Amino acid sequence: DLSTTFEGKIDLGIIGGTGLYHLDCLEPIAVLPAMRTPWGETSSPITVSRVVGDSSEHFHVAFIARHGLHHEYPPTRVPFRANMAALKHLECKAVLSFSAVGSLQQHIKPRDFVLPQQVIDRTKGIRESSYFNDVGLVGHVGFGKPFSRSFAEYVHQFAHLLENPSSSEPCLLHFNDELTVVCMEGPQFSTRAESKMYRMIGGDVINMSVLPEAKLARECEIPYQMICMSTDYDAWRDEEEPVTVETVIGNLQNNGRNANVLASKIITEMSNEMPDFMLSGDGLKGSVKMSISTR
Ligand code: ADE
Repeated sequence: DLSTTFEGKIDLGIIGGTGLYHLDCLEPIAVLPAMRTPWGETSSPITVSRVVGDSSEHFHVAFIARHGLHHEYPPTRVPFRANMAALKHLECKAVLSFSAVGSLQQHIKPRDFVLPQQVIDRTKGIRESSYFNDVGLVGHVGFGKPFSRSFAEYVHQFAHLLENPSSSEPCLLHFNDELTVVCMEGPQFSTRAESKMYRMIGGDVINMSVLPEAKLARECEIPYQMICMSTDYDAWRDEEEPVTVETVIGNLQNNGRNANVLASKIITEMSNEMPDFMLSGDGLKGSVKMSISTR
């Protein structure tokens, strides 16, 4: 019997990936039916929550399931523009997203997490990746640094929370300025040859979801960081069978647990004291430069 409307402002938007649909620190107060936008409907209803233990009740979080509540949207069909437009409409001050990834590097083990700071686009021309196509308006925006470094630093302070109950090897939260996520189209995984090529061109992890999400967040001038959760070694290791769906699913559960713990800590901390990059907009306000067609 939750409300289907919400009048206030949202502070943080969360886009949950495969295997992440719920966070312990959130107490839902409203479920907005899938929001209709000029770019279609969001991929799921939007759950608006307060933070458990937040007595001031000022901090609100909006949660969207990227692939839908029943995993009905493959990466190619996710309504990325609607999802980000909805979070912009709700006035989110930052967006934190989650995604399962394959690892292209030996030292990034399945079950490790990664805070990438760079992207290589292998979806170009396939997905609608801008709000400025076909609207009689040309919008250009810098994308040299596709993520919010301040946000990544903020997340990284909680690296020690990750656990690996089935192994003595700790789960690591990797973070540096060169860490690169390759975004491929899918839904098929890569061939061995492609996987090896992605290593050669500087890829550290690979997924099917960071684009156009990161581009659209930038067009909306919203600080954005993705937490990549490694599930497999993709297809590049000659001594090992290429990635299978079973391998991915096998690690999703542990990753979901760690994502829950990590996100809950981040959100609780944010609700205690709003970090600077959310208050200031992380230097993105006014970064989209527009010109109107004079034709
Ligand atoms: N998501 C999880 N593992 C992946 C892989 N190996 N390639 C692309 N996307 C993935």
